[in-house]
Amino acid sequence: MHKGVPVLLLLWCACFLCVFFCVSCTLMTAVRVFVFVFVFVAWCCCCCGLDAAAVAVSASSSSSSSEPVLARLVRDNSNCSFESHYPYQYVTYKTSEAPVIDGSLDEPLWQEVAWTRDFLDISGPDFPTPRFKTAAKIRWDDKHLYIGAYLQEPQIWATLTKHDSVIFHDNDFEVFVCPDGTSHYYKEFEMNALNTTWSLCLNKPYANNGYENSSRVFGKHGWDDPGLRSGVYVDGVLNDVNVVDKYWTVEIAFPLTALAYNTTANVPPTPGEYWRINFSRVEWHVFKNGSHYSKVPNTPEDNWVLAPTYKVAIHRPEYWAYLQFADTHVNGTSAVKDPDWTIRFLAMQLYYAELSFKMKSDRYSADLAEVEQYTPIPGALTRGCTGKISVSVDAEGKHYSAHVPDVSRRRVAVIRDDRYLIVHDT
Ligand SMILES: *[C@@H]1O[C@H](CO)[C@@H](O)[C@H](O)[C@H]1NC(C)=O
Ligand SMILES: *[C@@H]1O[C@H](CO)[C@@H](O)[C@H](O)[C@H]1NC(C)=O
Ligand SMILES: *[C@@H]1O[C@H](CO)[C@@H](O)[C@H](O)[C@H]1NC(C)=O
Ligand SMILES: *[C@@H]1O[C@H](CO)[C@@H](O)[C@H](O)[C@H]1NC(C)=O
Ligand SMILES: *[C@@H]1O[C@H](CO)[C@@H](O)[C@H](O)[C@H]1NC(C)=O
Ligand SMILES: *[C@@H]1O[C@H](CO)[C@@H](O)[C@H](O)[C@H]1NC(C)=O
Ligand SMILES: *[C@@H]1O[C@H](CO)[C@@H](O)[C@H](O)[C@H]1NC(C)=O
Repeated sequence: MHKGVPVLLLLWCACFLCVFFCVSCTLMTAVRVFVFVFVFVAWCCCCCGLDAAAVAVSASSSSSSSEPVLARLVRDNSNCSFESHYPYQYVTYKTSEAPVIDGSLDEPLWQEVAWTRDFLDISGPDFPTPRFKTAAKIRWDDKHLYIGAYLQEPQIWATLTKHDSVIFHDNDFEVFVCPDGTSHYYKEFEMNALNTTWSLCLNKPYANNGYENSSRVFGKHGWDDPGLRSGVYVDGVLNDVNVVDKYWTVEIAFPLTALAYNTTANVPPTPGEYWRINFSRVEWHVFKNGSHYSKVPNTPEDNWVLAPTYKVAIHRPEYWAYLQFADTHVNGTSAVKDPDWTIRFLAMQLYYAELSFKMKSDRYSADLAEVEQYTPIPGALTRGCTGKISVSVDAEGKHYSAHVPDVSRRRVAVIRDDRYLIVHDT
């Protein structure tokens, strides 16, 4: 089981013998015995300590990896950054001049900042590269978040003209903003090349029984992104099947107060703070059907996103990109990773473990030992990357709230069965 231990024992024995014989040659018998006993005891303690740690690690890990224990100990204890899971991050610079919202990204405030990386297939980088390029830029001021996007497109096509239609039935550009990173009360916005828009507020993800608050559903009592402005610029001719188009660009001014509605986010944000954001582009396959475009029958849409959620499911805010706010000094700020990432990430690991446990057992569990085997990344919760995790569950096992403190116990991530995730000082 512990392949590493015999090697360790041999190493320690060799060490011990060396030290003992070197030292003993030069010493009197009494001192020799003392040194023997001292080194022997020290050796026993070390071996026991390592062995106990090794057992702890292998007990806490459900993987049957044959990797040497010592190597695993070193790696697991030195690396709780879960770097490879850290989402894409974009630094957004404040602007002292507001853009004209006409769809054209010609102002210096757009030209002077970097594009996001090109969008990827929603299922992740191992899936086909999108057929057309999509990228975005983001600026902000005390009142607005400004988004500009470029969508390469040879067949610019749009049909929906009624505000708050389900825009993704056309080709569209979509924005998702979760200002406080709780995955509750996030906002969604979709628009097509006709500048037709749809604004939604989700109290929580659909998978958690969230609902769409929009004027589509609730009429004038519904959420409608008050104060939002948008524009489209088309390089080509919209809906003309005889023209090979180049691209369309969109420009959107989101009022910050609307985005932050019913969240704990600060308005305006302070440089250094993070919001979570995601973009998506829905692209249908269309063909020239006489004088107009029609969707290719029985062909699903493509979903191209800034940060893959690894499933065709955009409503997983924990996978969304980090938007790091910065002052007006363009390119003067380096990206700084969220120092709470480890506990945020592990709180979500616990969330998914509890979810899988509930599917099997029809209840949530307060016993980490019982749940831990369902952690998507085996051993992530028990390898010592957090302080003591505590889960409290109601009597029927229907709801829970879990505390995931960092190793220094200064910060704690609190996750609930409804996916509400908040991090605060202890
Ligand atoms: C942590 O592990 C990841 C891969 O799991 C690796 O890319 C990264 O370099 C490691 N970081 C440290 C500080 O060891
Ligand atoms: C900032 O960086 C981007 C990307 O590297 C570059 O395109 C842009 O010109 C830079 N802007 C300034 C003002 O240096
Ligand atoms: C929808 O959002 C509006 C705010 O725009 C709010 O007044 C209303 O109560 C919400 N409706 C529901 C059902 O959540
Ligand atoms: C886009 O639509 C908005 C209303 O949602 C309107 O105010 C704006 O003038 C339109 N802009 C363009 C460029 O079509
Ligand atoms: C604001 O959010 C809380 C939960 O965080 C919810 O109970 C409340 O109904 C929400 N208020 C509105 C107006 O949507
Ligand atoms: C092609 O256009 C015709 C006329 O508008 C329409 O009835 C037909 O359904 C379209 N074909 C497809 C495959 O969509
Ligand atoms: C957007 O969300 C989807 C689904 O949650 C995810 O796959 C994708 O990576 C996210 N994109 C960005 C830029 O965060």
